[in-house]
Amino acid sequence: MLNFDFYNPTRIVFGEKTVAKIGALIPENARVLILYGGESAERNGTLAEVRTALGNREFYEFKGIEPNPTYETLMKAVATVREKGLDFLLAVGGGSVIDGTKFVASATHFKGEDPWQILEAWGSNVTQAVPFGVILTLPATGSEMNSAAVITRSATKTKALLASPLVFPQFSILDPTKTYTLPARQLANGIVDAFTHTVEQYLTYPVDARVQDRVAEGLLQTLIEIGPKVVNEPADYDSRANMMWTASMALNGLIGAGVPQDWATHFIGHELTALYEIDHARTLAIVLPSLLKLRRNGKRAKLLQYAARVWNITAGDEDTRIDISIQKTREFFESLGVKTRLSEYGLGDDAINQVIEQLTQHGMTMLGEHRDITPDVSRQILQASL
Ligand code: NZQ
Ligand code: ZN
Repeated sequence: MLNFDFYNPTRIVFGEKTVAKIGALIPENARVLILYGGESAERNGTLAEVRTALGNREFYEFKGIEPNPTYETLMKAVATVREKGLDFLLAVGGGSVIDGTKFVASATHFKGEDPWQILEAWGSNVTQAVPFGVILTLPATGSEMNSAAVITRSATKTKALLASPLVFPQFSILDPTKTYTLPARQLANGIVDAFTHTVEQYLTYPVDARVQDRVAEGLLQTLIEIGPKVVNEPADYDSRANMMWTASMALNGLIGAGVPQDWATHFIGHELTALYEIDHARTLAIVLPSLLKLRRNGKRAKLLQYAARVWNITAGDEDTRIDISIQKTREFFESLGVKTRLSEYGLGDDAINQVIEQLTQHGMTMLGEHRDITPDVSRQILQASL
């Protein structure tokens, strides 16, 4: 096992009717900004519950954080927080709203010239952040229990990452009934995103990290079990509860502690979202199967473990077992209604050239757990996904 330093201070309050608990979790004298996306939080009554739970506290609202939140929009929220001197943020939404809130939290007191510098430094220059809490409405990214955020600069089509221990949420409310209004597309995205987060930390090379491996395999098997029910059947509490906790556990640092990590699928996927606005999870479904196929040698031992322990494939020679496990992964994504081919989005060689150019420009030239996914290899992966 590799050395590690595991730190996760986020309080998780889980279960039905838990939104009201924010009344006890936010300081009495806090002056609050509620941040949310489009219409969903108002329409399903979550915002009404939040306003009631805040009681007599002074609060303001910032509406309009878009999917793949932009620096341009978020700077308006930063202006509101600064202008009114607010001291607590409350994110009501999915990964985009939570990530956006993390940026606002770290940009408000940023000492440099322009808060975009936070993204240029990957968050290492954050020295102070406004405390914040989360009401999660879309299980997918794990942002409710981690210290990372992905922010887009529309002007340059750049999707960049910030990470800082100062932007862990103080608390996250995980009420599975809040997912009942999610459309099938977002539910499928959530399953694929959580699945890929697990794979990026598990499917590398063995370091005898048994707990991390067994937990990762449990998360993957849970997603395989509940995925079709979550996406294709009417909402049911138990499967949504399991989905919510699985997505948080997939990216809260636990399974990534002490193991090598890949993340190439994510970095290539981010360029596809920035350029062509394909949903985050859908980019992962395009890249991951081809990446596993092409990187099979560096990942051989873990791919065989994945085949045996996650998909129960034990017969046949090594390459056959690996091929079947990758095919099963692709079929799983497709069974949820998520396409796995670039061409199904009307994209071809021109798009691949653009992605490679952006990867190079963004310094994404040595990706993967072996740092050997060069732009040429990324090109081969995308060509294999056509
Ligand atoms: O804007 P509203 O009307 O709220 O609609 C949203 C949005 O259109 C809707 N939605 C959310 N909760 C709902 C609901 N609709 C009905 N009922 C509900 N309960 O869902 C749409 C998508 O929301 P979004 O927050 O964009 O989705 P997701 O949670 O998948 O987040 C994606 C973002 O997270 C980043 C991605 O790059 C992307 O920007 N990621 C963040 C990570 C992190 N912080 O650790 C890791 C991930 O790998 C990922 O990169
Ligand atoms: Zn993701």
